[in-house]
Amino acid sequence: MSLTIEPKYTYWSIKKTKVLKMNALIILVSYHHKNTEKVAQVITKILGAEIKTPEQTNSESISNHDLIGFGSGVYFGKLHKDLLEFADKIPQVANKKAFIFSTSGRTGNMPKFHKQLKEKLQTKGFEVVSEFNCGAFDTYGLLKIGGGINKGRPNEEDLKQAEEFAQNLKKNILDATK
Ligand SMILES: Cc1cc2nc3c(=O)[nH]c(=O)nc-3n(C[C@H](O)[C@H](O)[C@H](O)COP(=O)(O)O)c2cc1C
Repeated sequence: MSLTIEPKYTYWSIKKTKVLKMNALIILVSYHHKNTEKVAQVITKILGAEIKTPEQTNSESISNHDLIGFGSGVYFGKLHKDLLEFADKIPQVANKKAFIFSTSGRTGNMPKFHKQLKEKLQTKGFEVVSEFNCGAFDTYGLLKIGGGINKGRPNEEDLKQAEEFAQNLKKNILDATK
């Protein structure tokens, strides 16, 4: 004897998938050894951001993006002057998030390196949500005589940390928009 149990009701489960998009732009100045560009490439892969220089960016590009990354090497204790001057020209924004990243010969001083740009961005209305710095090859001035410092950096470990930084940033931004 076989017993067949017929279901009384059929349930259709509709799984709702919210499509979340990151609309990110990176504004980069990297010239000494293209160290910061290496970090920017890693971040870009995770965020799907496009990279532009300050000269290639206008207020329209700013208004078309929700998340803007500002990156450069550290020169004379601060971020590149082109980036600082660019920040001065940005019109007041609303509901935009920013992050700052840099490479430098000396490490452990990120708050000081980023201070000026961070304050300018906050004045313009950006919420600065995250910051990253790592050591990098530096042959400026007398350092050149001894072959420079941090040869080979950013190295694999630095770039892994940059990747983790971008993953966390992405997660936090997407979580906030859920
Ligand atoms: C003109 C100049 C000034 C620099 N000043 C500093 C400094 O004040 N502090 C520091 O830690 N590194 C300094 N550096 C080292 C750079 O921050 C480092 O090499 C950085 O990775 C350069 O980035 P880039 O290759 O993306 O241009 C300086 C380098 C140059 C060329």
